[in-house]
Formats: sequence, structure tokens, C-alpha cells
Amino acid sequence: MRPRPDDIFVCAFPKSGTTWIQHIVHQLLAMGYVSPMIEGPDAASVEAMESPRILKSHLTYADIPKGGGAKYIYVCRNPKDCLTSFYHHHRTWEHYEFEHGDFDVFFDLFMDGRISFGDYFDHLNSWLESIEKQEENILFLKYEDMLVDLPSAVVQISNFLEGKAAEIVKDEKKLDKIIEASSLASMKMNQNRWFSNIYFQPIHRDKFIRKGGSRDWKNHFSLEQSERMDERFRQRLTASAAGGWWKKEMAWEGGQNENAGEPRMAML
Ligand code: A3P
Repeated sequence: MRPRPDDIFVCAFPKSGTTWIQHIVHQLLAMGYVSPMIEGPDAASVEAMESPRILKSHLTYADIPKGGGAKYIYVCRNPKDCLTSFYHHHRTWEHYEFEHGDFDVFFDLFMDGRISFGDYFDHLNSWLESIEKQEENILFLKYEDMLVDLPSAVVQISNFLEGKAAEIVKDEKKLDKIIEASSLASMKMNQNRWFSNIYFQPIHRDKFIRKGGSRDWKNHFSLEQSERMDERFRQRLTASAAGGWWKKEMAWEGGQNENAGEPRMAML
């Protein structure tokens, strides 16, 4: 496919908050459709879409179609919660045939990168390159920062998109409405709206937007698994911009699900 100057790509490793960002971008641009994942439809259907196109992708930075001035929003989430969320995702979608799958089995598959979209650390590292290269057309967000301060994230996204999106958030009422509609509670309602894909369908339609928050991994990981993930993090990310990220979210000490439910409205 050929990117266009006004394309907006919403990119992430699966289960990092992709739908959350899509929903915010849709509202900022007043788009009434679920943006397709470019790995799904053929190039011709993506070509037939009207501009500006909002396109979702789980591709790495190396693989994502680039050029033409398109904008990219990348959202990432700590690997322990990402793995946990992906485990539940596998139990929820028919095509994985993992409805009764075991957590320990999934843990090993994730650690070996033998899952859809491959290795978490390869993925994150490839996008971190964009920070090192100081690419101007990429906005890098952390899921956990959005949990703590959703209004700031919405404003940040709107400023990055510029134009109509940046104008909309100047109106306090419109901004409040977007924040409210982007809360976990609101997005849990009427979950059918998130399923545009005609090929793959969930077994449990109400569990796509599942629990939210961070540290749910504590309900699933053994101490040994937690230490294995910490070690992998050290090996793969210490030297990167993400080296100091997620200390609290990934520590063995601490609660079992923080920031779950309503994100705190730090600015309101
Ligand atoms: P959990 O499975 O931990 O609940 P993706 O869209 O990339 O598949 O990511 C899905 C994850 O983002 C799910 O995590 C989902 O609950 C969480 N999520 C989606 N909307 C959210 C919101 N408004 N607030 C907090 N988390 C949200």
C-alpha cells in the first residue's frame, strides 16, 4: 500500500491499548468507522478508503509502510501486563483455538516470540529506533501514562494531529465528552462496535475491553516467571530509551491491579 500525507497509523504490539488510541483518534477527527488493520484487507480496499485514513497496524517500525508525510502514533505497555492481556485475548477469540489454554503454556510461547506478531521486545525495540532518530511524525505513548492522566494524552494526540483535532480540544465541553467516552467504563459498553473484522470473531463479545489498568499480571505470574521476564527486560531493553520504564508496574512487590477502572483525571 502507498501511505498518503494525511494518513494516520495507530500502531502497537497487540494488547497495548491500540483500540483506546483508535477510539480517541476517531473522535478527534469525527470519524464514524472502525479503522481497519492494514494486515487484514488487501491493498486495493485500503486504497479505496477516503482520506484522511485512520489505519491500525501491529507491524514493526521496520515493516510499517512509510513515507508521504503520514503520521504514526505508537502506544506501548509493560510486557508483563501485555502478556497477561494477550493470554486472555487468546482465550477470547475463536481462531486461536485456545479457549481453555493454560497460562504457563502461553507464557513460554510469548517468551519465545511464537505468537502473532512475534517477539514483544523486537517490536518495541524497532519502534524505539524512531525515538533515537527523533522522527517528527511519530508520537510515542505509554499505556500506563494514559491510565494516570487521560486528558493530557488526549490533548497530546490532538496537538500531534493538528488541524481539526487540535481545534476540537480547545472547546472544554467537547474535550470532556471525548475523555468520558474514552474511559474504560464507557468503552466496555456495546463492545460490538470494536469488531470490524468479518473473518475473526470473539467467543465472548463482552471481554475485548476486559479489565484495564496495570499489574493484573500479579494474578497470573509465578515469582519465577516474573524474574524471567525481568531478566529478559534487562537483556533486551536496558540500553534503550525504555531502560528505566515501568519499574513500579513490573515490580513483584505491590498490588494486583492498579489504576483499574476509571483513569484518574489529573487535569480536571
Ligand atoms: P486488558 O486485557 O488488560 O483489560 P488492544 O486494543 O491493543 O487490543 O488492547 C486491549 C487492552 O487495552 C485491554 O487490556 C483493554 O481492557 C485495554 N483498554 C482498552 N480501552 C481502555 C481504556 N479506556 N482504559 C483502560 N484500558 C483500556
